Amino acid sequence: MDVIIWSSSLEIGVKAIDAEHKHLIEFIHLVRAASEKQRSTLNSNKKFLNDLKILFMAHFEKEEDLMFQIGYPGVNAHMILHSAMQGDFDTRILETEQTGDVECALSFVATWIIDHMATADTSLAGFIQQKRDAKAQARAKRAETVPKTARELAHAIAAKARR
Ligand SMILES: [Fe+2]
Repeated sequence: MDVIIWSSSLEIGVKAIDAEHKHLIEFIHLVRAASEKQRSTLNSNKKFLNDLKILFMAHFEKEEDLMFQIGYPGVNAHMILHSAMQGDFDTRILETEQTGDVECALSFVATWIIDHMATADTSLAGFIQQKRDAKAQARAKRAETVPKTARELAHAIAAKARR
């Protein structure tokens, strides 16, 4: 498996999600390093993979909570991708039990997260950015209508009194 190094080029621009993606990639490295140790056993490798899976599932839940909170229209399609990943991850863990080849499972997980960040998570980030832009525009518009000086305020009050 090619080693994936976290870099800003992998960021999708949403701090909380980027921090978790970084953590997931670091954990993949940890599992890999642990499994390469001479004393690693099939049982310990299986435990590492299960821990990695738990971390992924917790991340998916957080992402899904966020998608519901912000009314992301692609939430269902995105959740289907997460579910499919969960099933494929389980399959890889079973295969590891039979073959003892942790590398194969890790390679699958690493490739999946890179692809998922570049596609589904990037679409989500785009939606979040649109919402941020809309909010910023609405605030800028509101700011235009708010008197900025005592003189402007006096004019606004006088204009209102004349109506
Ligand atoms: Fe995702």
